[in-house]
Amino acid sequence: MAVGLASLMLMNCSFVRLSNQMNLEAAVETAAAFLNKSVKPVLVGGPKMRVAKACEAFVELADACGYPVAVMPSAKGLVPEHHSRFIGTYWGAVSTPFCAEIVESADAYLFAGPIFNDYSSVGYSLLLKKEKAIIVQPDRVVIGNGPAFGCVLMKDFLHALATRLKKNTAAYDNYSRIFVPQGEPLSSEPGEPLRVNILFKHIQKMLSGSSAVIAETGDSWFNCQKLKLPEGCGYEFQMQYGSIGWSVGATLGYAQAAKDKRVISFIGDGS
Ligand SMILES: *[C@@H]1O[C@H](CO)[C@@H](O)[C@H](O)[C@H]1NC(C)=O
Ligand SMILES: *[C@@H]1O[C@H](CO)[C@@H](O)[C@H](O)[C@H]1NC(C)=O
Repeated sequence: MAVGLASLMLMNCSFVRLSNQMNLEAAVETAAAFLNKSVKPVLVGGPKMRVAKACEAFVELADACGYPVAVMPSAKGLVPEHHSRFIGTYWGAVSTPFCAEIVESADAYLFAGPIFNDYSSVGYSLLLKKEKAIIVQPDRVVIGNGPAFGCVLMKDFLHALATRLKKNTAAYDNYSRIFVPQGEPLSSEPGEPLRVNILFKHIQKMLSGSSAVIAETGDSWFNCQKLKLPEGCGYEFQMQYGSIGWSVGATLGYAQAAKDKRVISFIGDGS
């Protein structure tokens, strides 16, 4: 006997890759109420947006809601850095300047596809509160300390939420008030040994939409994280384990798959 779609959905929503419409509607309505009543909400993109194929829906939401947009370090490359309200990488104490201040002082934040491990949470030191958070995973949404909605696909949720929020630029306005641009690294004197800060100044100028950056564990993580990615520039780095070596295979694989890109690997842990 054939198994009907409805019973398959009850068994496993991620298998059929469809949202349960009732759960989706309930999740969107509850999230909209939660975010609408907040004073200075923020959006943060996480690495699972990739498997959830939700990067476009995230941008739709970012465009519509007026909130500042930050990215988790392991999601760099999945959130457009040329977005008018992009505020950088949220990485606790090692965030882009002024980014953590805005995220951690918000009274509501939506994290799309986060992975909070020892690396991304800087040894579990993030000053986030669960009751202020909406956590959107590839097929599940949790709002504050509850409720949780299963069988809701991230891309459907973000897409629907984009049409249901009150526009609120308070947190971005705050950011604009406190933001001070970083100084330019000095130029090196003739004959002076090349320094990393000067090297990266030149690398920044080399990047374009047809480049891709692969960052190895260690110093390269931190230096590459500070690069401002032009539209279309690829970016890969992994935060699941800290051993070096990953980037060599990643570079070969990436270069095979993205033949139109100039792939630039950064290897070296600064020792
Ligand atoms: C949120 O605000 C928008 C825009 O004002 C409104 O259309 C929507 O009904 C509100 N939703 C909730 C649940 O408060
Ligand atoms: C941030 O925004 C809130 C709400 O608009 C306001 O009360 C607060 O003073 C602002 N903080 C800064 C640093 O501008």
